[in-house]
Amino acid sequence: MTFVIGAACVDVLDRACIEECPMDCIFIGNRMAYIQPDECTDCGACEPVCPVEAIYYEDDMPPGQEQFVAENARFFDEPLPGRTAPLGHPGGTRGAGALGVDTPYVQEYQPLSQ
Ligand code: F3S
Ligand code: F3S
Repeated sequence: MTFVIGAACVDVLDRACIEECPMDCIFIGNRMAYIQPDECTDCGACEPVCPVEAIYYEDDMPPGQEQFVAENARFFDEPLPGRTAPLGHPGGTRGAGALGVDTPYVQEYQPLSQ
């Protein structure tokens, strides 16, 4: 199991969560950040610091955001537009910074109006 970043991160990318993660497993894409599900140890340190409450435990995704569980995993498991090889399990971001790519679902995601 893992924590997952959901819809509220899209186009916000506050990044406060990244500073809190002891595993350094929160990666910045283009429109949002993604948690490496196999490197997250479920410590939960990231969840309370996100100002838009975008982070949830995998089983607690709000209705309509379930797809983001798959998108967080897909960010690491698949080559994406603009990236030829999957990121896989890099063992932390190692200060990689913004990677500039998103999954196709996130690329096209239309945030719900508040
Ligand atoms: Fe996104 Fe919140 Fe982190 S907006 S980058 S999940 S602090
Ligand atoms: Fe890091 Fe959050 Fe998991 S702080 S280890 S991504 S629960």
